[in-house]
Amino acid sequence: MISNIITMGGVKSLKDIDVTGKRVLIRVDFNVPMDAQFNISDDSRIRAALPTINYCIDHNACSITLVSHLGRPKGGYDERYSLRHIQKRLERLLQKRVEFIDDFDTLKTENAQCSIERIFLFENIRFYDGEKKNDPEFCKQLGGLCDVYVNDAFGTSHRRDASTYGIADYVDTKVAGFLMMREIEAFTKALENPIRPIALVVGGSKISTKITLLTSVMQKVDKLIIGGAMSNTFLQAIGYDMKGSLVESDFLETAKEVLEEAKQHKVKVYLPVDVVITDSIDHPIDVKVVPIQDVLDGFHAVDIGPATLKLFSEAIELSNTIIWNGPMGIYEINQFSKGTYKLATIISESYAYSIVGGGDTADAVEKAGEKEKFSFISTGGGASLELLEGKILPGFEKLDRKS
Ligand code: ADP
Ligand code: 3PG
Ligand code: MG
Repeated sequence: MISNIITMGGVKSLKDIDVTGKRVLIRVDFNVPMDAQFNISDDSRIRAALPTINYCIDHNACSITLVSHLGRPKGGYDERYSLRHIQKRLERLLQKRVEFIDDFDTLKTENAQCSIERIFLFENIRFYDGEKKNDPEFCKQLGGLCDVYVNDAFGTSHRRDASTYGIADYVDTKVAGFLMMREIEAFTKALENPIRPIALVVGGSKISTKITLLTSVMQKVDKLIIGGAMSNTFLQAIGYDMKGSLVESDFLETAKEVLEEAKQHKVKVYLPVDVVITDSIDHPIDVKVVPIQDVLDGFHAVDIGPATLKLFSEAIELSNTIIWNGPMGIYEINQFSKGTYKLATIISESYAYSIVGGGDTADAVEKAGEKEKFSFISTGGGASLELLEGKILPGFEKLDRKS
């Protein structure tokens, strides 16, 4: 059976078409984190879109219109989510002037004028009602803005929105940008043509949100390394009392089934042997490391312990491909971040092909200062998770395919 990743990799990319003299609309994902003063704290997603934009400039597109969302505005204009805050950073990164346009009609007249190298940044597309609804009339209007549609918004490619999905019905030429293709190449390397052994390191808060991931990769990986709150549910399922820890009691049976399935597929499972526990998550006074059988009454397991790190690092050092999704603890709180940060260092220093998917995991790797040493960090949180789950992302579905 052809995998979802191979299917998505079969779409045409920008390289397969000619954009000379064409009005090109690029759906980018400029949904970047900002502070209260609108300073961008991480511009990776903007940087990741530059190759596609620059290619269109270098190949003399008549005009380039960038369309993105920012945050989740609740109906209509909201200054906090204006893409105006992105304009300066984009100009600096492109070293080109970018014209910010906040209404449809102006955009339509301006971008049709075909003066080479004009770059338009359109206002947050989610200020329009039709975007999330994938409204056909809105899709048609968007489609009318261009001759070529390029989807390069990997981070939003799991959404069936007008600008990521429906628009493609109203444009003759629709292709993937270089970021979309890079993401697919990275996941192909990790899951379709991996150098074995291949380890999936999985953590985060809930087994319920990642159960499809666990079952769908079971036939592909050799090792499953489980940490974070997710491992609490597994540990509880096999008889340890995790006391006040975050455990999904409705999923104890599911956890047992996953372990059984792993056994059938000869996947070796690694679970924590010790954990960091605390009397309180928000106001910790008593924090200590205990073996998993000794979690105290009223305490919460919030990170993996040093013995677990050693166990996991041995498994990682003997792997040639590592996919990581989900932090090992509550890494947002300094005291509980050690396990996640140390694991980031261990993976980054291994010789394996290492790939990170998951918004919080990518954030943790960045905060650990290890980003540059990973082979690939996906720009998609939810999107990379759905890709790993074996789904075909809507953002690829309607694009032209190579014959
Ligand atoms: P990703 O975004 O990388 O897919 P998730 O969203 O699944 O990751 O999980 C990240 C969240 O899991 C973080 O907010 C982190 O605090 C939480 N988490 C990890 N370990 C624990 C734990 N032991 N107890 C409670 N929350 C945890
Ligand atoms: C993300 O940050 O995960 C993407 O930009 C998608 O945003 P959304 O979850 O609001 O659709
Ligand atoms: Mg998350």
